[in-house]
Amino acid sequence: MCGIVGYVGSRDAVPVIVEGLRQLEYRGYDSAGVAVVRDGTLQRRRSVGKLCNLEDSLRAEPLAGAFGIGHTRWATHGRPSEENAHPHQDCKGKIVVVHNGIIENYLPLKTRLAAQGHKFVTQTDTEVVAHLVESLYKGDLEDAVRRALGELEGIYALVLLHKDEPQKLIAARKGPPLVVGLGEKEHFLASDIPALLSYTRDFLFLDDGDVVVVTPDSVKLTDSSGRVVKRDPQRITWDPIQAEKGGYRHFMLKEIHEQPRAVRDTLLGRIGIEDGEVHLEELGAAEEELKRAKRVMLVACGTSWHAALVGKYLLEQVAQVPAEVDYGSEFRYRNPLVGPASLCVAITQSGETADTLAAFREAKRLGALPIAICNVQGSMITREAAGTLLTHAGPEIGVASTKAFTAQIVALALLALRLGRLRGTLTNERCRELLESLARVPHLMENALAMSGRMDDAAKWLSRSPNMLYLGRGVNYPIALEGALKMKEISYIHAEGYPAGEMKHGPIALIDESLPVVALCPRGRVYDKMLSNIQEVKARGGRVIAITFQGDTEVGKVLEADRDLIFDVPAVAEVWSPLLMVLPLQLMAYHTAVRAGRDVDQPRNLAKSVTVE
Ligand code: F6R
Repeated sequence: MCGIVGYVGSRDAVPVIVEGLRQLEYRGYDSAGVAVVRDGTLQRRRSVGKLCNLEDSLRAEPLAGAFGIGHTRWATHGRPSEENAHPHQDCKGKIVVVHNGIIENYLPLKTRLAAQGHKFVTQTDTEVVAHLVESLYKGDLEDAVRRALGELEGIYALVLLHKDEPQKLIAARKGPPLVVGLGEKEHFLASDIPALLSYTRDFLFLDDGDVVVVTPDSVKLTDSSGRVVKRDPQRITWDPIQAEKGGYRHFMLKEIHEQPRAVRDTLLGRIGIEDGEVHLEELGAAEEELKRAKRVMLVACGTSWHAALVGKYLLEQVAQVPAEVDYGSEFRYRNPLVGPASLCVAITQSGETADTLAAFREAKRLGALPIAICNVQGSMITREAAGTLLTHAGPEIGVASTKAFTAQIVALALLALRLGRLRGTLTNERCRELLESLARVPHLMENALAMSGRMDDAAKWLSRSPNMLYLGRGVNYPIALEGALKMKEISYIHAEGYPAGEMKHGPIALIDESLPVVALCPRGRVYDKMLSNIQEVKARGGRVIAITFQGDTEVGKVLEADRDLIFDVPAVAEVWSPLLMVLPLQLMAYHTAVRAGRDVDQPRNLAKSVTVE
């Protein structure tokens, strides 16, 4: 949801900023722009659409600068156009600003500033910041920004510069993420770590309310009242290669194939097959409190919400603790009754999703113990949680989440097993059995992913289908939802996920020979019911893509060899089956989108981190 980069130092700022923006394009790609200062002259260049358009423009007419800022936009206020592209400037063209977030009171501010004579040229909320700072500027940008922040309502990560204050950037954070990259006589600002990994591994994470003044030689970090804050930098241990495509055509395909590794790393050091126990010491004091939990509230958005639905099933099945699931965006707007001994588990890849954060804070305020399952160390949610279970999926760049999803399910499985043991609802023997089968999952995933090549038949058919239906039951009902979401977001095919038993209550009316129906049919408690549902589809002339366990002999009997398809994955304990059943659905969505000529890693209208509500 908008990416920001800033640079001060001795290099040419333009390539540093553009390279950083490339790593942040997952956050938005409606337009991109840079503003740099050289010898007291401020120059801006902006282009609509993807970063490559800006790069083309810079190639045709190069820019250079000693310090500067850049932005890649996911439009909220004002359509994607060059005029609305960041950086935005004040009337005199001396102050420029880039912004991620929403200035909620921009209209009254704009009306007031316009009445004072400020000329607005865009439809954005951000432009108001440039004019507001201009109106308060008395020769000191830091002071003007600080006073302007006092008037802003909403959420923001902001970076500003003034052309007459050389080698200085001012940044502020309330909501969306911002990090400072620390170099030798050079410093960087960015919305996310991968933007700066080619230059530094040392980062300062800004907290809400922080204001930072960055020059090549100094980083002055202050809180909202201007008090200097001392904060230790953190060293990032990721390999920058993890954020590269590594020979794959798309990040999404690479990340699909990274899932065995992501699951293995998420299990690493946390399971003891010998003692049949799960070890979650990283939860710290919160782990002790888990024992008292009488109820778990899971909050999340999108794909992470689907992981939460699997989590509910696991918590109830394995730990026998009541669990409920909420969309982050809904939780606050009902009247959540958070009883004593409630645990709130927020599931978020980025740790920055505004809706999830808001729900988490509300649950915390109402007295729940706040636990996060998150993929980004140091992200907002990890700093607000009483304890965090990190998923070790590594940086996820493809906008459609894949490896973070399976890693989240694994983290939820570990939490369910631990809770079961702490509450005495899971025997040591059963826990060991479950752990043994969970530990085999990465290997089984490798085997399942080998089917990649066979997806083309499905992709050929599906890329011509305007609609699809996904059916699942029990622990695989959320996987039907996730399969449909993957298909929608990257291929733009309308797809619905349904609990298979609900089909007869309405969606069955959709079934005819043109509607592909994906049916998740692993062996387990609801296998026979799924077989009946498949038969209901076939009886109405429907065409089915069945996902079964290897060795299945029944599903094939109800399908037609020339009209239907079957993909199978290795058999596994039913509770862990989502980890395997989701793989063909991810691959199916990927290959269908590629065949349909879609932009798989950057689907239209989407952004990876949604930091506005
Ligand atoms: C879909 C997808 C989104 C995210 C959602 C929550 O593929 O990636 O639905 O799952 O925006 O994001 P996080 O997990 O970062 O809170």
